[in-house]
Amino acid sequence: MVNDLWYKNAIIYCLSVGTFMDANGDGVGDFRGLLRRLDYLQGLGITTIWLMPFQPSPGRDNGYDITDYYNVDPRYGSLGDFTEFTHACHQRGLRVMIDLVVNHTSDQHPWFREARRDPESKYRDWYVWSKKRPAHAKDGVVFPGVQKSTWTYDKEASMWYFHRFYEFQPDLNTASPFVQAELLKIMGFWIQLGVSGFRMDAVPFVIATKGAQVKRPVEQYDMLRTFREFLQWRKGDAIILAEANVLPDTDMKYFGDAGERLQMMFNFQVNQNTFYALASADVAPLKNALEATKWRAATAQWGVFLRNHDELDLGRLSPKQRETVFAAFGPDPAMQLYNRGIRRRLAPMLDGDRRRLELAYSLMLTLPGTPVVRYGDEIGMGDDLRLPERESVRTPMQWSTEPHAGFTKHDRPVCPVISGGPYGFERVNVASQRRDPNSLLNWIERMIRMRKEVPEISWGDFAILKASRDDVLALRYHWRNNSVVCVHNFSAAACTVKFRVGSKVGENDVLVNLLSDDHSQGNAKGQHTVVLEPYGYRWFRVGGLDYLLKRSEV
Ligand code: NOJ
Repeated sequence: MVNDLWYKNAIIYCLSVGTFMDANGDGVGDFRGLLRRLDYLQGLGITTIWLMPFQPSPGRDNGYDITDYYNVDPRYGSLGDFTEFTHACHQRGLRVMIDLVVNHTSDQHPWFREARRDPESKYRDWYVWSKKRPAHAKDGVVFPGVQKSTWTYDKEASMWYFHRFYEFQPDLNTASPFVQAELLKIMGFWIQLGVSGFRMDAVPFVIATKGAQVKRPVEQYDMLRTFREFLQWRKGDAIILAEANVLPDTDMKYFGDAGERLQMMFNFQVNQNTFYALASADVAPLKNALEATKWRAATAQWGVFLRNHDELDLGRLSPKQRETVFAAFGPDPAMQLYNRGIRRRLAPMLDGDRRRLELAYSLMLTLPGTPVVRYGDEIGMGDDLRLPERESVRTPMQWSTEPHAGFTKHDRPVCPVISGGPYGFERVNVASQRRDPNSLLNWIERMIRMRKEVPEISWGDFAILKASRDDVLALRYHWRNNSVVCVHNFSAAACTVKFRVGSKVGENDVLVNLLSDDHSQGNAKGQHTVVLEPYGYRWFRVGGLDYLLKRSEV
């Protein structure tokens, strides 16, 4: 059982093939390049690679506008290259997950072209049409300021079509049994080619009712069970990780009360409140977010992350909290996006301050769930705010001090590499950090190794310990007679924090520091007093110094 649910103790690494490594020198990253970097990823300790969309696409939304679900964009290679890649991953014990973008297609997809051209075509009903402009056509845009409407008039069809995202991404009519059957077929295809699961794009919209008459979309949660059942018939341990930025009271609808729907979801609630805590040193809202997202079936799991390929969405914070985060991490309007988010990478948001970066990473690795690392964050890459919208955080991976960071030999990379300044490839790159035992890269590698040895975090129940300070978060995990305690100081000042580990463990237990030699002995009442540096953190295992022995009994 423990090994079957591989995703519970996984470390996921997310990347775009096109900006990771270019092997054939045409300026665009490709599968052959990625294959050459697999040993780097394995060395980092990650267990699962999540590939962002790599299927044929006009590339108007970073590949989230697909024209063929059953192929690889020729710029990245062929299906043959893809299977070489998954094979090489499996040889190294790495799993592969891929994006599943089925809420919409590109407007260049043959299905849509056929649908708009011919009213008799079977594909007409695969999309969502209206003869008249729907009264609420301006409601529900996802990219305010860039996207004007959710309905666009199509001259060829002489009708309006629905698109939750950009106008070049017509929504599929996911209520159609034919569309649903195709969706399963897409999953079945990639499963057959060796993937272990999907990061499902825009899940609330996939399952929502759509149409000109639909004023308030209603989620059809049963569809989630259908997806999961199909997947598990085809491959027992395949999973779906849902992108669903929803309120905590609907989380269980996605997981299913008995875990019968999707296995994983990104925890957006905890993500936004983490950034609030990093900005304000007030951990109370983060504690609330952790409590609010706590209950779930044993097989269900959160994906915890710091940054991803989109803006840092702060839409679930209160306006005051959001202003605090904007002021700390994105004060310039050019750093903000869609009135709700920040289009920056982690390192520049934290001023490149190693102490804060370690705090953020240490926290992510010890929050309840499976960590999801964004490529380049392991070396502290920066952003390029001259690029439009979310492109700012999608620049090529910085491998070395060679031209274009060693990403490509071509003189014009698909997207400019960050050069010059504190985050330019001349200063921030893998090759230099590899040689430096104290680099962020080597630190993260050590932390990932330790995280994998602490399955209590992945599997256990957590409790928020009562700490003597509001700027310190102390979490205890308990699983199969083993406990760990993780303590994080969000403040810029050193502090002394007192806490008790709690009733489940011996009152006089030693807290064994897993990362250095300063262990903590509780007093007679079981209270621990720990001195933390500014932004300091500790990972302790509860028990005597024989803690390693305890682990081996797991
Ligand atoms: C969510 C993805 O993360 C984002 O990058 C994309 O633009 C939209 N879905 C539409 O597919």
